[in-house]
Amino acid sequence: MSKNFYITTPIYYPSGKPHMGHAYSSIIADIFARFKRLEGYEVLFLTGTDEHGLKIQREAEKNKKDPKLFCDELSKNFRDLTSILNLSNDDFIRTTEERHYKSVKDVWNRLVESGDIYLGKYSGWYSVSDEAYYDQDEIEEINGKKVAKTSLSTVDWVEEESYFFKLSSWSKKLLKFYEENEDFILPKSRRNEVVNFVKKGLTDLSVSRTSFSWGIPVPKNNKHVIYVWLDALTNYLSALNFPNTDDKKFQKFWPANVHIIGKDILRFHAIYWPAFLLAAKLQPPKKVFGHGWILSDDKKMSKSLGNILDPIEIINKYGIDQLRYYLIKEVSLGNDGSISMENLKNCINNDLANNYGNLCQRVFSFIKKNCSNKIPKPTNLSEKDNKLLNQLKNDMPTLINLVNNQNLNEFIKKVVSYSFEANKYFNDSEPWSVKKKNLERMQNILFTICEQIKNISILLNCIIPVSTGKVLKAMNVEPNMISIKNINNMECFNYSNELKNLNILFNKVENDN
Ligand code: MSP
Repeated sequence: MSKNFYITTPIYYPSGKPHMGHAYSSIIADIFARFKRLEGYEVLFLTGTDEHGLKIQREAEKNKKDPKLFCDELSKNFRDLTSILNLSNDDFIRTTEERHYKSVKDVWNRLVESGDIYLGKYSGWYSVSDEAYYDQDEIEEINGKKVAKTSLSTVDWVEEESYFFKLSSWSKKLLKFYEENEDFILPKSRRNEVVNFVKKGLTDLSVSRTSFSWGIPVPKNNKHVIYVWLDALTNYLSALNFPNTDDKKFQKFWPANVHIIGKDILRFHAIYWPAFLLAAKLQPPKKVFGHGWILSDDKKMSKSLGNILDPIEIINKYGIDQLRYYLIKEVSLGNDGSISMENLKNCINNDLANNYGNLCQRVFSFIKKNCSNKIPKPTNLSEKDNKLLNQLKNDMPTLINLVNNQNLNEFIKKVVSYSFEANKYFNDSEPWSVKKKNLERMQNILFTICEQIKNISILLNCIIPVSTGKVLKAMNVEPNMISIKNINNMECFNYSNELKNLNILFNKVENDN
């Protein structure tokens, strides 16, 4: 089995400030990327910005800026966000880069060559905000304004010369593809939505525009720019040095293992994208995972509703690990979830501060006082010690499956339960009383609890990398030892080194905060 793993986030429109929804997609992808690395995979994790289209052109005009310079400024906010969120992305792509132009033009030429593109005239509804075309039955009127039913964004009637992609001829082939690749669209409920939509039959898709110029020109007809979604989706290939399909990166990482996206852009990734790729004689990605929305006041965040949650504000106040942990623990990955400050605080206090944080702190300070600040070497582990360690070890296949089946909520719950059990083990074993009677027993208890803290920290490393990184570093576990295969590997500790100082990991949040 290939040990390479390619994972992507959506590339974000840089027109506004990044919000919690963007942060959510990126954090999810980061957790999977980090977990696969822990499993020993060579991972390529891509994110970036989607910079063409009428929406960006209009914003630039409003700001009296050249669109490219405008994007240079705004894309930086998203690049900065990658460090604020502590993303482990290997690349950050911008659709205004030369490597991307080359790749989009090549895809276009492939579609022309395969006979899937023809020139015609488009007339229909278009939403600039979604950069999407809508059929008549997808439109409704609210307060005298025509809007798209799904996103409630305004639509305009558009009539212009346009190139079309023969999407209609791909319905059957797509249905066959979905059938043969059961896990292509996840979660299952989303898969059914897509399959039902395709079953109704697809219409040809307008893939170029003439009424504005901010985009990649159509090869041999630069009156047209390529439709922003055909342009944007291709970013996933551009980062692999496409069109050079002999390139090592392309060979290693295409087809992508998973595109993490929000459910709002499922149609583009689960219908248009595989159709474009199949027509261009390229393999579709293995999986598209559509997560739910983060709601604010029970509604989707949007500028017009004025209910945008700023991830940076929350991070400044509570910390990045705290936000990452909360989003993954409390929002069920496939469903929508409302953010509640009350739940965030409870999560920080109960799971992070009182449970994992407290466990590390009390064990460290006990070792400092009673064992010259060194983890004792195990000599004779009792049944109780082995039981604690083996339970986690035996659960490893289940834990790995949970992550690989995108069930992060269950994964986290299980890991928290180990931390709870470890605290209980420490209390019940009472190393403080054992000390006087049997020093060796105390040392074995301390080794066991350290080993379990190490195991839990490795598992949580993909979710809360900053704090688990501190704990593992304080235990002198080398970065290259932080991996799933070192769960219950007693060789990770250097028993002659003292523990490093470990400051409070998570400050408790007061309720009036
Ligand atoms: N540029 C396109 C994506 C092109 S990918 C080839 C786009 N950009 S976006 O900036 O509008 O949003 C991108 C993603 O942000 C959404 O798909 C979704 O993953 C995430 N979110 C935006 N708002 C969200 C919420 N309120 N909640 C959760 N995620 C949401 O679409």
